[in-house]
Amino acid sequence: MERFSVTTPIYYVNDVPHVGHLYSTLIADVLARYWRKKLGNDQVWFSTGTDENSQKTVEAAKKSGKEIQAYTDELAAIWQRTFEQLGISFNDFIRTTEPRHKEAVEFFLLKMEQSGDIYKGHYEGWYCVGHEAFMKESDLVDGKCPEHNRTAEWLKEENYFFKLSKYEKDLLHWFEKNPDWIVPQSRYNEVTQFVKQGLEDISITRQSQKWGIPLPNDPSHVIYVWIDALINYLSTVGYPDERYRQWWPSVHVIGKDITKFHCIIWPAMLMSVGIEPPKQVVVNGFFTINGQKISKSLGNAIDPLELAKKYGNDALRYFLFREIPFGSDGDFSEEKLKERYTADLANGLGNLVSRVTNMVERYAEGIYKKQKVHIDDAVMAGVNTNLENYKFDAALALIWSMVTEANKLIDDKTPWTMAKENKQSELKPLLNELASRVLDITSVLEPFMPGTAEKIIAAFSQPVKKAEPLFPR
Ligand code: MSP
Repeated sequence: MERFSVTTPIYYVNDVPHVGHLYSTLIADVLARYWRKKLGNDQVWFSTGTDENSQKTVEAAKKSGKEIQAYTDELAAIWQRTFEQLGISFNDFIRTTEPRHKEAVEFFLLKMEQSGDIYKGHYEGWYCVGHEAFMKESDLVDGKCPEHNRTAEWLKEENYFFKLSKYEKDLLHWFEKNPDWIVPQSRYNEVTQFVKQGLEDISITRQSQKWGIPLPNDPSHVIYVWIDALINYLSTVGYPDERYRQWWPSVHVIGKDITKFHCIIWPAMLMSVGIEPPKQVVVNGFFTINGQKISKSLGNAIDPLELAKKYGNDALRYFLFREIPFGSDGDFSEEKLKERYTADLANGLGNLVSRVTNMVERYAEGIYKKQKVHIDDAVMAGVNTNLENYKFDAALALIWSMVTEANKLIDDKTPWTMAKENKQSELKPLLNELASRVLDITSVLEPFMPGTAEKIIAAFSQPVKKAEPLFPR
């Protein structure tokens, strides 16, 4: 039986969610909903969660004056609640401070060690806590990481290393055999190019830090947060228990800033312990707000819940998927959201549902017959193909072409004239056709706009009454 398993990045708890964080999570949600419909609820696993063993957590807790674990609990709860309120249909919310995760990480690292892939050495280099990564000197500007605007620290310590270089050939072979493994193609090219230039071993522990998961065979070191975090994709599905195989390999949805971790380090770690790499890595672009990077200091870190309260969860989803082609960077502006809300949602789909329910109530006592409609099957199939290939904007454009066509059918045929002239033999089939079109549109719209789909289905339960506006103005 076919199964589908999908993950999001796990989010740092040094801050609360902003609208930019939503992107990967929404993509994973659309995919999970789509595959649940296709394969059945029990055949799909969708996990998200929080990345808590970071130095950033320690700093943020200190700043807030709270004890670290208490701070982490509080923030993780905020992330989880936000996703719940946004209607994200995750099956699991994994936290990297949970015992089940710690157990998986320890087991995994012992396996890496048994493969002879971990050795002790010294590391010196510039470290940016913002990135939680070592930086090249050439990436710094006046000693600062330009992205996080903070001074890099010179770290010199005894570290354990992972023999990443050993997997260079295996990785290249894997990429070659799986040309669709990273989407979009541009990211695939970037990653393969990078590996072709040669890989160096990486440091995977920190001696200077206390917060984190201790290395099993040398607890004076904590495991580097990225190594621990990547393993969440296995701990969520039950690793090291064999039941993890039911859901592995998963599709990972991530943002473009973390491709190297997911497409190079992670598959190499998996190769080291003899587990197959993820099924696919799906990489979304970044969005800006009114052309600016999302950041606290710019005061544009919009709370997604506030937006959702104003426009509804589904309008927000619709906007993000319709406006920004998957894989590209895009700009979020509330102005554009409002335009789409009025034109596509209120005047488009909302108006269609309200007109059709109104006419079915008035002219047919609320009764219609669902039938095979004259929508081109190719259009319906096209929506699904686009969705399966992460072309969300194209899928929605197709759905909206059906909305426009149905509204046009009403304008052209003027059912109200048929009613006035008492042409029942023409009116009834037309109403059946219109109701059926709306239901067909709803069936492909559901993964994108689940709340709206539910309302439409309820509105079309017979006897039909004129529906409340789906998108109030
Ligand atoms: N904790 C790591 C991920 C570990 S996964 C094993 C991390 N966390 S994060 O909270 O900083 O970022 C999580 C995700 O949010 C990343 O995929 C990042 O790309 C994404 N985004 C953060 N800001 C974003 C935008 N403005 N736009 C789109 N995605 C954004 O990295």
